[in-house]
Amino acid sequence: MKISVCGKGGSGKSTIVTLLANEARDRGFQTLVVDSDESNSGLYHMFGFDRAPVPLMELVGGKKSLKQKMNQPQVLTQAEIWLRDIPPEYMLEKDGIRMVAIGKILQSLEGCACPMGVLSREFLKKLHLKDKEITIVDMEAGVEHFGRGVETSIDGVLVVVEPSLESITLAERIDRLAAGSGVGNTWAVLNKVNSAGMASKLRQELSRRGVRVIGAIHNQPEIFEACFEGRPLHGGKAGQEIKEVLDSLLSEAKSRGEGNRPKTI
Ligand SMILES: Nc1ncnc2c1ncn2[C@@H]1O[C@H](COP(=O)(O)OP(=O)(O)OP(=O)(O)O)[C@@H](O)[C@H]1O
Ligand SMILES: [Mg+2]
Repeated sequence: MKISVCGKGGSGKSTIVTLLANEARDRGFQTLVVDSDESNSGLYHMFGFDRAPVPLMELVGGKKSLKQKMNQPQVLTQAEIWLRDIPPEYMLEKDGIRMVAIGKILQSLEGCACPMGVLSREFLKKLHLKDKEITIVDMEAGVEHFGRGVETSIDGVLVVVEPSLESITLAERIDRLAAGSGVGNTWAVLNKVNSAGMASKLRQELSRRGVRVIGAIHNQPEIFEACFEGRPLHGGKAGQEIKEVLDSLLSEAKSRGEGNRPKTI
């Protein structure tokens, strides 16, 4: 199953990715985290890795070389990708979590991030998962990735909603964009919630907009502190709260079936 985690900048996407991946691992899933955010580079801290993986962009010859191939139907030569095919420098592994990164913008004037979008889309499309393998994608903030078609092989989109009107309205847009990309399920998870009253207001607003909420993570200073200090994120209350979210994802995610399988070389 392939799940992408989206939402407004700073809403808590990377935090939710970490909580979900840890919970999936604890349930016996072979868990792959895909860092598809071309701006932020600190996700690896949240899992306790001591460095970031070498981006897959390097594996395919770098951004310049990929840019030249972008108008070809495919940029990856492999017809299909299995976890075992990815070389270790590009896929870190620790405590049952694997992590790859697509690519980062590192230099001024290096051009747009379109090649990252193309690589994300094709990597996710060609990635074959066996039973009990799950992929969780940490998306860049906003909605540009929908324009680039990154979600075309994703089974479900999880939108992180923090308590703000911008975050709510973006969740509604994402819900529509995901449906337009053929994604079978879109859910929302509330994050940084401070009270039951706030949670119920957010649920009401989202339900009015047709967005389904499958859980809530409270505002917890330990999360902020761990992120601030670059420490791995461990269980705590949020670790309990995420269980309900993963339960819904696992029971409701519809497989993209044939659409998920690469057909040609
Ligand atoms: N439930 C929470 N309680 C307290 N702080 C939180 C919670 N969730 C996230 N944060 C804090 O909010 C900030 C943003 O979180 P995070 O990096 O996960 O967001 P993001 O959506 O991935 O951001 P970006 O759009 O920059 O990638 C971090 O400082 C993080 O520690
Ligand atoms: Mg992030």
